[in-house]
Amino acid sequence: MKDKIRIGAFISGGGSNLQAIIDACESGKINGKMVFVGADHPQAKGLARAERHSIPRFIVDYGSIIGRYRRDPRNISVPLDFDPEAIRAKQHLFHADADPARVEGFFRTRAAAEAALLHEMAAYPFDLLVLAGFMRNLTPYFIDRVNTDPDHPRIMNIHPALLPAFPGVDGYGDTYRYGCKIGGCTVHFIDYGEDSGPIIGQRAFPIEEGESLDEVREKGLKEEWKLYPECIRLFSEGRLKLVRRDVSNQDHSGPNSAPRERVHVQVLK
Ligand code: GAR
Repeated sequence: MKDKIRIGAFISGGGSNLQAIIDACESGKINGKMVFVGADHPQAKGLARAERHSIPRFIVDYGSIIGRYRRDPRNISVPLDFDPEAIRAKQHLFHADADPARVEGFFRTRAAAEAALLHEMAAYPFDLLVLAGFMRNLTPYFIDRVNTDPDHPRIMNIHPALLPAFPGVDGYGDTYRYGCKIGGCTVHFIDYGEDSGPIIGQRAFPIEEGESLDEVREKGLKEEWKLYPECIRLFSEGRLKLVRRDVSNQDHSGPNSAPRERVHVQVLK
């Protein structure tokens, strides 16, 4: 039997996905062990779930860091190895014409928060970090310090929509309000954009006439609880391989937006 993979999780909310992953580890469906749970605010309800399973927990309060910065930018200290130019060149979260002060504030506050996360996590070596309802975008500052091997990314996210449709903070709500007949959820590795990284797995479900948004969310979550453990299991078995595909002559999304290369996840048999 191979060693269990060590899984860390970040949460912001109720943590039902966290629970599904903990349960899958405990039942042996995933050959893994949850080694820490981090939250971006102290009220995250999922922290109690981690406590119930005696999993180490920590909180980095993004709201208080951002609030202190807004009162006076000198209130926060950015890490010494924070390079704003390099981060801005890599990131895909803001367009080139975005307000520079806003962009600067975003990356300075996030670097401060992310350095605190990295500091907390240093006590718990891990193989995979799962974002389980974590409602913060991670920046290249953090991502590059976790993903040290470009061929083996190790930060996964679950998103409540069939990406690339409806990235952002309310995937089920956006799907529902658009009038889609099919909803779904996606697990992907994270990259420097918002919900734009290589897709690992997806599950879909029908949206019936007359269903409420709450009913759609409920259906979606039930799919998430199956999809996320399944994708983590594939990771734990070493079955997720990144492949780079040249799509420069086949992309029809517009002359300036065409990516030359897309990174796909191949699931090995
Ligand atoms: C889930 O629906 C998850 O897909 C979503 O938040 C919910 C968290 O539920 N995540 C995002 O929207 C990330 N951008 P949970 O706390 O019960 O797992």
